[in-house]
Amino acid sequence: MRSLVIPLFLASASVSLANDPQLRADNIDEIINNLTLEEKARLLVGRENSASDKGVPGAAGVTQDIPRLGIPSVVLTDGPAGVRIAPKRKGDSNTYYATGFPVGTALASTWNPALVENVGKAIGNETLEYGCDVLLAPGMNIHRTPLCGRNFEYYSEDPVVAGVIAASYVNGVQSNNVGTSIKHFAVNSQETNRIEVDEVVSPRAIREIYLKPFEISLHTSNPWTVMSSYNKLNGTWTQSNPELLKTILRDEWGYDGLVMTDWTNERRPSYERVAAGNALLTPGHDWQETDIIEHVKNGTLSMSDVDQQVRILLEMVVKTPRFNHYKFSNKPDLEAHAALTRQASTEGMVLLENRSQTLPLKTTGKVALFGKTSYDFIAGGTGSGDVNKPYVVDLKTGLTNAGFTIDSRLQDYYEARKTLNDKTRAISGENPRYDEPFISRRDIERLAAENDLAIITLGRQAGEGRDREIDGDFNLTQNERELIENVAAAFHALGKKLIVIMNMGNVMETESWKGIPDAILLAWQPGQEGGNSVADVLTGKESPSGKLTMTFPITISDIPAVNNFPTGTGPNNRRNGKNYDYTNHEEDIYVGYRYFTSFDKPVSYPFGYGLSYTTFKYSKPVVKATPDGFTASITVTNTGDTEGKEAVQLYVSAPGKDMVKPARELKAFNKTAILKPGESETLTFKVSAQDLASFNENESQWQTEAGLYNVQFGASVNDIRASAPYMQKKALTKKVNNVLSLKRDLNTISPQ
Ligand code: BGC
Repeated sequence: MRSLVIPLFLASASVSLANDPQLRADNIDEIINNLTLEEKARLLVGRENSASDKGVPGAAGVTQDIPRLGIPSVVLTDGPAGVRIAPKRKGDSNTYYATGFPVGTALASTWNPALVENVGKAIGNETLEYGCDVLLAPGMNIHRTPLCGRNFEYYSEDPVVAGVIAASYVNGVQSNNVGTSIKHFAVNSQETNRIEVDEVVSPRAIREIYLKPFEISLHTSNPWTVMSSYNKLNGTWTQSNPELLKTILRDEWGYDGLVMTDWTNERRPSYERVAAGNALLTPGHDWQETDIIEHVKNGTLSMSDVDQQVRILLEMVVKTPRFNHYKFSNKPDLEAHAALTRQASTEGMVLLENRSQTLPLKTTGKVALFGKTSYDFIAGGTGSGDVNKPYVVDLKTGLTNAGFTIDSRLQDYYEARKTLNDKTRAISGENPRYDEPFISRRDIERLAAENDLAIITLGRQAGEGRDREIDGDFNLTQNERELIENVAAAFHALGKKLIVIMNMGNVMETESWKGIPDAILLAWQPGQEGGNSVADVLTGKESPSGKLTMTFPITISDIPAVNNFPTGTGPNNRRNGKNYDYTNHEEDIYVGYRYFTSFDKPVSYPFGYGLSYTTFKYSKPVVKATPDGFTASITVTNTGDTEGKEAVQLYVSAPGKDMVKPARELKAFNKTAILKPGESETLTFKVSAQDLASFNENESQWQTEAGLYNVQFGASVNDIRASAPYMQKKALTKKVNNVLSLKRDLNTISPQ
């Protein structure tokens, strides 16, 4: 019972009256009983950091406080590649830089959950020491097409990879007693019209592909918060859909943490988002508080729904460093974290080509370093996933640190262009990624004569609010193509090599040019130490062990989802209707390798692919039935003459008699430690019968088919090195709720 009626004007006053209870972890009920409706509404509506004096400069937002009840405001900060706060503050000579870690695609490409957990620990430590409470990460949406502008923040086209990597990240961050927000829940597959677009998806694809990573990560981690996405799903905004936020998330999966909306401004009304299961509306406006109050008063929003969400919010608040008066230092160990980011980005790099053992380089020498990006390395993507990092080691600096000599005339040429571009950009505010400057053949021939080696860096940048273009972004520009061809011709004529470094967060076309250079290293957007990490791989200080977590198609039109995606040019470039107001997922569950393997289509580089400086032999595997599925083991031996690590992927082909299934699906993966030449390690895997299930949408049930499964151990999805049978004796079914159904026809594809 409330002992005192507090007039509204006192609600946010900084004084508490003697009789007011103060929030503790064990008196949340009492606090709820003492809150006025106005105060409850205030708690459920956040504030932009800039609209509050309680936050940390540059953070994304805050929750609101109720000082009279001892409820503090807590700080929410982006984002996946590091803590996104302002590096400088007015009238303060200290700096507040945060470590720029590798982007999501790079982290996932390590196939190393323990390493990702360490990165999470470091990011969580910076969250804590910079006075923030919840990190708005990880981003874990599925890469439906290579064209989504935010793929760099996300992990994979495969739900198991995305779910396992996200859980490791969450566990690492939260070991610091700060929170995470797994996002964006769910099917936030495009940036074009992301606030309004209706993603039209079959319940099977929703369950198996788009919700699965969230479900997996919630099994093995307990993120404090989940962020409901901007888009609609089958006709309803995900933020307003209790079928998604309650029936599936809470009733089926047992999640008891907080759901906050993504940063949604003008979407009225907002009360139904509270009823649907959000405890925090972000960024938050006064009118939303009024809206909640009015709808409680007129009976459209129940007080019990409000109380339920307030309880969830307070349960989160009492866990925060703010509430627990943590004295943050503003001095995380940036040096130690720089060493970690260098290690993580090295391990995420994928060696795509290495003809005649061009790499590792035998000696350091004189390098003709081509490509504007070599001098202007791209550490991360743009938007909320960007980090204000203290520096970026570009490739020129990384190679110089490793003892190479960079051709100074070429360097001067590129750096002058960069200065010019920076100036133009400052005046025009245009896109910073200008095209590759032209270099004449004669100049390239002269450079070939004067240098030992050529390196070209290709750069791509993408980010929030915009999807990628096909021409000049997914594909090479004409200048880039000519540069690769001309440099290769000139250097090869003199018996010298060309290496291409790909500095991007996403997939690009490779088929038409991958045969030209002697080696190609996909460096991703590797964080602030990128140039050093590339040098570590080129010199052989580290043997590459990254593998692709997505398919590199031959052309963009090979991706079936591209028929239903707002591509930058052509008939799909709309401002209304198909692919803008709604997007049909006709490819259904055939996303990424599930399509290419099931429909027998060639690719440029398959899912799971990546070369090493050494070679590995896979033993005969052992697959043993358990009461709940099977365990498997395989011994990997380093058969080459350099040390290295190997990521092994366990795929399963189902009998496929009851339901049409993809040709093979990843069910587990594992990675060796560093193996010296001749050394072996036995990797183990565990797969449950439920992991083998597919979703039968007609019956609303998960079905594990009985029969003979083929368990395959791959170096990539197209390079299966060993296999063994597994007999599932009993068919299993698991009924779930019939929700998120299709509201319009969808011509889904199927291989049969
Ligand atoms: C993004 C979120 C981000 C939020 C706060 C939104 O626009 O979609 O990922 O966490 O802004 O910056």
